[in-house]
Amino acid sequence: MSATTRVPRGVVAGNWKMHMGPDETRAFLAALSPRQGPGRPQVLLFPPAVSLAAAVAAAPSWVGLGVQNIHWEDKGAFTGEISAPLARAAGATHALIGHSERRHVFGEKDAEVARKSAAALRHGLIPVVCVGETLAERRAGQANPVILRQLDAALEGLTGSGVGFLIAYEPVWAIGTGETATPQDAADAQGVLRGRLRERIGGDADRVSILYGGSVKPDNAAELMAAPNVDGVLVGGASLEALSFTRIVDAAPDR
Ligand code: 13P
Repeated sequence: MSATTRVPRGVVAGNWKMHMGPDETRAFLAALSPRQGPGRPQVLLFPPAVSLAAAVAAAPSWVGLGVQNIHWEDKGAFTGEISAPLARAAGATHALIGHSERRHVFGEKDAEVARKSAAALRHGLIPVVCVGETLAERRAGQANPVILRQLDAALEGLTGSGVGFLIAYEPVWAIGTGETATPQDAADAQGVLRGRLRERIGGDADRVSILYGGSVKPDNAAELMAAPNVDGVLVGGASLEALSFTRIVDAAPDR
């Protein structure tokens, strides 16, 4: 099946990381004004957990909200952690799982990504599972094996879920560096991921949105989102400002 016959949902997501308190969140949402209508992408925001309540209160209905991380247990003595049921109760519909900063700064392993993915699905949170290779892995010719290993591990937690998850390909060397993967780089890697999804979940693979993330800006978003197998973008730095993020949402093609 070619990329053009697929019908994945277009998605533009903003990961605010450790930025944006409640007041900034409210101001952002008041100023966010992308084009709306049939065929326009789903807009998702991942504020810090302390700003989720402000976001829930201020977000228009066309903005979905998520958390940046969850614990795999439902409850317990895990100081500083947030469970999937807590995130759901606070109004999140999505959860980033296995973001590269979780993996590389906090040492999160593939097995934990699988457990977190399973926990999200168990409680009706849609996981956005992040995969991506480091520069050293890319230079060693290991990019595809690494992202496939990460995907396979996550799928252990996602098995049987049908299409209730998203994948984000975020090459670590392109995150926060200004170094963007070319549309061809993104299409190649995301084609590899799509191929593995087809092996694992058959035709449902064509309905899984695969996002690209890494130095996405208003000026490169349209070109990236026009690439085959790039169903949307996961934006860090350029999602912190309403005008910039609005321009990125507006750069998405109609689907
Ligand atoms: P930047 O857009 O700042 O490179 O961050 C990408 C990212 O990590 C989104 O999750």
